[in-house]
Amino acid sequence: MDRDGIMQKPTIAIIGPGRAGSALGRALRSAGYSIAAIGGRNPDNVRKLADELGARACQSPATTIDVADLTILAVPDDVIAPLSAEMADALCSSAGKAAVHLSGAQDRTPLTPLARQGSLRTGVFHPLQTFRRGPQAVRNVAGTYFGIDADAGLREQLAEMATDMHGHPFDLSGIDRALYHAAAVFAANYPMTLLAEAIAVAGEAGLGEEVARQGMTTLLAGAVNNLRDLAPADAITGPASRGDDGTIQRHLAALKHDPAAQRLYQLLADRTKLLARKKNEEAA
Ligand SMILES: NC(=O)c1ccc[n+]([C@@H]2O[C@H](COP(=O)([O-])OP(=O)(O)OC[C@H]3O[C@@H](n4cnc5c(N)ncnc54)[C@H](OP(=O)(O)O)[C@@H]3O)[C@@H](O)[C@H]2O)c1
Repeated sequence: MDRDGIMQKPTIAIIGPGRAGSALGRALRSAGYSIAAIGGRNPDNVRKLADELGARACQSPATTIDVADLTILAVPDDVIAPLSAEMADALCSSAGKAAVHLSGAQDRTPLTPLARQGSLRTGVFHPLQTFRRGPQAVRNVAGTYFGIDADAGLREQLAEMATDMHGHPFDLSGIDRALYHAAAVFAANYPMTLLAEAIAVAGEAGLGEEVARQGMTTLLAGAVNNLRDLAPADAITGPASRGDDGTIQRHLAALKHDPAAQRLYQLLADRTKLLARKKNEEAA
């Protein structure tokens, strides 16, 4: 805090100029944060993002932590623990330093080697969002919900960081991470798997590749649009929610050459009927 009680923005280091690291680096820079350093294993990727964000390029990821107040480990989940151990070994001074990872599937345990370093504070800063490769990914940051589980002091700083990026901070402490992350995967990943199924099945039905891809993708976008102001049970359309069992039976018969797709369809139809039934019971 400064003398007027305003929280000072921490200087930031990002290890891992991949999808999440690049998107957050760009969003933080736009929000007025100074990106002091980018670290990573591939010198070209590190230099490119460092140049863009006006940061120092650190070729040794472990020593990046000495350059900034807050280091973000934007590396694959399985790399967090070994990197944290390396960083703890290489640390010069823990005073005023903090480190967070971005994984929704893990708690603070992989950061234990850093948490043991004097006053160094650790935390989880999970963007409940999906980031693609490339500069367009930053567009997804505004509006994102950020799950935070961190030491006192750092918690408030991370919440402010989320707000500064026009996101919404929420408390992740005490939340079952495996279940929470499974929920996130249901929301962000499996709709893509289902879209790929839809495109393939449309192709089998005889649609041209481009029409199948564009048509089905536009259909999904329309469905997501309906979710802006409606709950899933209110937004869903189609035979399972209407109770058109004859149509469902025809779909299942058409899919019989692909038993896995047929099982998947049946499972989803059953869950959709359940959703519709619950909604009707609530309305009664
Ligand atoms: N992408 C998302 O949508 C998303 C959303 C929420 C949370 N997250 C979390 O964000 C973290 C990063 O995920 P991501 O999707 O951004 O992964 P990613 O695109 O694969 O990027 C990972 C980055 O880490 C670097 N890296 C890999 N191994 C390393 C090592 N041993 N030492 C140093 N750097 C290493 C990679 O280097 P190279 O440049 O050489 O590839 C790359 O820059 C994960 O914890 C993930 O759970 C991701």
